[in-house]
Amino acid sequence: MKNTRLGLSLFTTALLALASSATLAQGAKLKVGLMLPYTGTFAALGTAIENGFRLYVAEQGGKLGGREVEFVKVDDESDPSKATDNVNKLVKRDNVDVLVGTVHSGVAMAMAKVAKDSGTLLIVPNAGADAVTGAMCGPNIFRSSFSNWQPGYAMGEVVAKKGHKKVVTITWKYAAGDESVRGFKEAFEKGGGQVVKELNLPFPGVEFQALLTDIASTRPDAVYTFFAGGGAVKFVKDYAAAGLKKNIPLYGAGFLTDGTLEAQGADADGLLTTLHYADSLGTPRDSAFRLAYAKSYKLQPDVYAVQGYDAAQILGIGLTAVKGDVGKKAEFAAAVQRARIDSPRGPFMLSKAHNPVQDIYLRQVVGKENKVVGVASKALTDPARGCRM
Ligand code: PHB
Repeated sequence: MKNTRLGLSLFTTALLALASSATLAQGAKLKVGLMLPYTGTFAALGTAIENGFRLYVAEQGGKLGGREVEFVKVDDESDPSKATDNVNKLVKRDNVDVLVGTVHSGVAMAMAKVAKDSGTLLIVPNAGADAVTGAMCGPNIFRSSFSNWQPGYAMGEVVAKKGHKKVVTITWKYAAGDESVRGFKEAFEKGGGQVVKELNLPFPGVEFQALLTDIASTRPDAVYTFFAGGGAVKFVKDYAAAGLKKNIPLYGAGFLTDGTLEAQGADADGLLTTLHYADSLGTPRDSAFRLAYAKSYKLQPDVYAVQGYDAAQILGIGLTAVKGDVGKKAEFAAAVQRARIDSPRGPFMLSKAHNPVQDIYLRQVVGKENKVVGVASKALTDPARGCRM
């Protein structure tokens, strides 16, 4: 009896294995779960990421690793309180092969937790939460974007080198704001400066007035900020309207002026920011990407579009190595780890913790473009604090 049962279960296992390779051979579609913000202050960022991702897939004839790609989408609203339910819908109800998301660090942390617990492949196309490639790192978790520490740290060095001594920081009170400021402070204080005040408001609030009054009365040498999307548009306009722009230089992580320049107009002119992308790289790779993106979407690409495009590239590299079988996790990870990703931002590789090792550009707003001034930090590697892998 026991033997029969054992025999049967071996038989079932063998059948299942056969069935799954048969499904692959017949070219079952690859289900990509896109969890992104399509409403709220980050709505435009979510759309740009999806556009970039779809552009790369289209360039590959609609297939990655030999499998036709289909999408299931969830609007995460950049709301951490709904994040676990949203990601579970994709994993448990829709049975996606891979999760791609998201923009907001708090929501991404919930995605990383579910990915870790379920073993589902996760590619993060924006959210910088340091822990995603730090304490939460995992063999099935990859990031095509940056860690919050990276642009902040690069700007800390720039502002210290400019000779500014006293800086006030201002941001949203959540992981991305806190970590961006922490990265800035680490480099700025190492360079001899001092952060004299850290101002905050709750995400995604835009009531900046009292905080701007505080900056005016504190009179620092400069201000460092992290805002993005709709909030960044309003902050840059309010900073100028308060009369601060001409007296106290404003520096930021590059999200402050990426995808936002149409709406910010002259109020953004001249601003210096640090980021892993810029509008004037002028390399053949970037120019081809920008042309293809503009043709497809009648829009100029931004850093979010690049990160979406590169998330699809990473997925394509891994899937090609495992011939479309997402179950082969170790081989998938090894292939991605070896790869030099041919990004519009410039080629990059992933660190052991699966975060891009990349040049951080210093950019200046000129008209409707973030023009490259130089490389603020060459091949900057996130310290991946707490990652054991
Ligand atoms: C984040 O929450 O990690 C975040 C959001 C928007 C950005 C960058 C980072 O532009």
